[in-house]
Amino acid sequence: MSGADGSLVRVGLGVARAAACILLVLTGTFGCDSDGGGSAGCGSPTRDCTLAEAADDAGVWIGAAIDDPSAPPAQMTVADHFNSVTAENAMKWGSVAPTVGNYDFAAADAIVDLAESRGARMRGHTLVWRMQQPADLRAQVDAAEDPAARLREILAEHIGVEVGRYRGRVAAWDVVNEPLAPIGEQIDRNLFMRTLGEMYLDEAFQLAHAADPEATLFLNEYFYDHTSADARVSAFRDLVARLIDRGVPLHGVGIQAHFYGPVTPLPERAAFEAMLRSFTDLGVVLELTELDISINYFAAAADPLFAQAAAYADIVAACMAVGGCQAVTTWGVDDAQTWLDTNPQFSGSAPHMPLLFDAALIPKPAYFAVRDVIAGR
Ligand code: G3I
Repeated sequence: MSGADGSLVRVGLGVARAAACILLVLTGTFGCDSDGGGSAGCGSPTRDCTLAEAADDAGVWIGAAIDDPSAPPAQMTVADHFNSVTAENAMKWGSVAPTVGNYDFAAADAIVDLAESRGARMRGHTLVWRMQQPADLRAQVDAAEDPAARLREILAEHIGVEVGRYRGRVAAWDVVNEPLAPIGEQIDRNLFMRTLGEMYLDEAFQLAHAADPEATLFLNEYFYDHTSADARVSAFRDLVARLIDRGVPLHGVGIQAHFYGPVTPLPERAAFEAMLRSFTDLGVVLELTELDISINYFAAAADPLFAQAAAYADIVAACMAVGGCQAVTTWGVDDAQTWLDTNPQFSGSAPHMPLLFDAALIPKPAYFAVRDVIAGR
């Protein structure tokens, strides 16, 4: 990155890195490279590379979810630090179509333009979800003489228009987000399931594939216990297997990986790796699509930021160890803007400080931990 913004980030990176290195060496957690900036590869002890450079070298994507592409977090970080971008809200159905069929792609276009101008991959999030829908979607379906036919018609139009608009520019889509009920193992009895049955999943993927045959299509889900022992994980794996068996063009599985408190215990690295592998064994690629780790896990640690860095290292290392795990996206850029601090369910334990940059956009120890894990791949 060139210009004032880039210089600021570079200075911040240098200062934060020096502090981080001292502490990492003291805690014995990570190696600490000298600040060479030479021509050696990112993994070399003489090169102080960025997260994006490490990811480029390793052939993986490191991404961030972005809401406002003109704000400093997006402007200052996308070129140097992330080689993949997800729209946190702007591409959701209700964002691009406040009412059925009435589109406004301005906000989504701006994020896709940003990613494209900085050479980053664009992930589309998300086409079909129980939340953030056009305000009149349910009413339109309910009022129809044949609700199933009307929903099919609306889905076909929506997916065709949105995926078609970004054909060749959005490389990966979360076609369906959170097919499971919020708690438990059942498929969510949302409008789509109630009206079309489980086949709504098949149809959504087929429509997305028809609109952009080159896009990698994902089913995205969250879990509480991120191990194979969890019944919710098994149910999701069974669903993915059923879709594959039915010949649905599903290419990838998104594991959200929100770690926000007691009901989402941090998994042992080996157990998390085994869980991820159980999905890639089905023949799909995998991404950690929405990673964040609350600082609240580490309140009792001598240095919470470094304990958080170690947890980030474990989670990302598990992904890097699994051949089909091709990307990690953090759900936001910096600690000043995280959904956890504003969502009424979690804001009581704010600040969560769950991301790789602090509120002043200085890279945190977790940034270097993730960077070094990826560089060591
Ligand atoms: O855009 C309106 C704005 O006009 C209004 O003034 C303001 C007042 O509340 O609300 C704004 O909308 C908010 C929207 O984010 C955009 O900022 C909604 O209230 C708020 O509920 C919404 O939250 C988003 C949430 O999804 C919705 O469920 C979060 O930002 C977003 O991070 C979160 O992302 C989800 C993923 O899509 C799926 N996985 C879980 C993840 C976290 O919940």
